[in-house]
Amino acid sequence: MTIQKVGVIGCGLMGHGIAQIAAASGHDVVVRETEQGALDKGLGRIRKSLAKLVEKEKLTQDVADGAFGRITGTLDLADLADCDLVVEAIIEDLGIKNTLYAELGRICKPATILASNTSSFRVGDMGAASGRPERMVGLHFFNPVQLMKLVEVVKTDKTSDEVFAEAKAFGEAVGKVPVSASDTPGFVVNRLLVPYMAEAMRMVERGDATVEDVDAGMTLGCGYPMGPFTLTDYVGLDTTLSILEGWHAEDPSNPLFVPPALLKQKVAEGKLGRKSGEGFYDWQGDKRA
Ligand code: 3HC
Repeated sequence: MTIQKVGVIGCGLMGHGIAQIAAASGHDVVVRETEQGALDKGLGRIRKSLAKLVEKEKLTQDVADGAFGRITGTLDLADLADCDLVVEAIIEDLGIKNTLYAELGRICKPATILASNTSSFRVGDMGAASGRPERMVGLHFFNPVQLMKLVEVVKTDKTSDEVFAEAKAFGEAVGKVPVSASDTPGFVVNRLLVPYMAEAMRMVERGDATVEDVDAGMTLGCGYPMGPFTLTDYVGLDTTLSILEGWHAEDPSNPLFVPPALLKQKVAEGKLGRKSGEGFYDWQGDKRA
């Protein structure tokens, strides 16, 4: 089977990027949101990102127009029924995801591959909810999806070899380098990245270093493009906290998974990072103030 028609559920931070790269690589894309306002906003982000890539001469205007033209927005999940692949990128709430997967299991054609962009849950749990666990994989992209070269392809103990191979081939078709990962907390990247971000916060809590000095240390000392605090602002403090809380609930004895007090406090104050205008830093739109 060749994946030609791709459904994307959720047109937010990750979903809009996934829809965009799928369309830019020649796939027909149906992107589903639950409200017209969210759909319009997501499609607007795609338009803006494509325009930026044209401006930077990474895409021609023709290719960008073609990509946008291959994307259809919908509020109706049934419009995804005949997709070859459905990638879910909705809120990190397992109850909501499982309800969605049960619905997808009912409405999608038997050959549809179901994929989750989850960063914190077991892909196998969603596969079980769908009623077709052998056709379920993880496809974990990185933010900003349009620029980051990696996709983690997650195989559960039920994913069929054929579905896993198709998912990896799709990752390559959209221009990413796929790495194989097991269905364990954080897969490969977040299992290393999120405890690192949390330890940076604990370092500041202890008064060992400032936010600015930690970031300077990791950018200038290790060549990372962003220090851990800029990166947490970029990813979202709420997202980071929800990942840690999920892992901590599953394994309370692991000290790496304990959510730092500083993170909990900022989220309680509504300081969620770039998207709310304030996190560890102040933001004006996409740039640090
Ligand atoms: N579409 C199109 N263009 C975009 C874009 C997008 N979505 N996002 C950024 N750009 C453009 C910028 O507008 C900018 O254009 P300009 O030069 O005209 O202003 C250009 O790309 C380069 O951006 P920057 O000026 O910010 O320059 P950088 O060289 O710093 O590149 C970056 C940006 C690629 C984001 C780089 O800073 C980086 O690699 N940061 C680390 C990101 C990272 O670690 N991501 C992973 C997060 S973890 C994750 O996603 C997992 C999840 O489960 C938590």
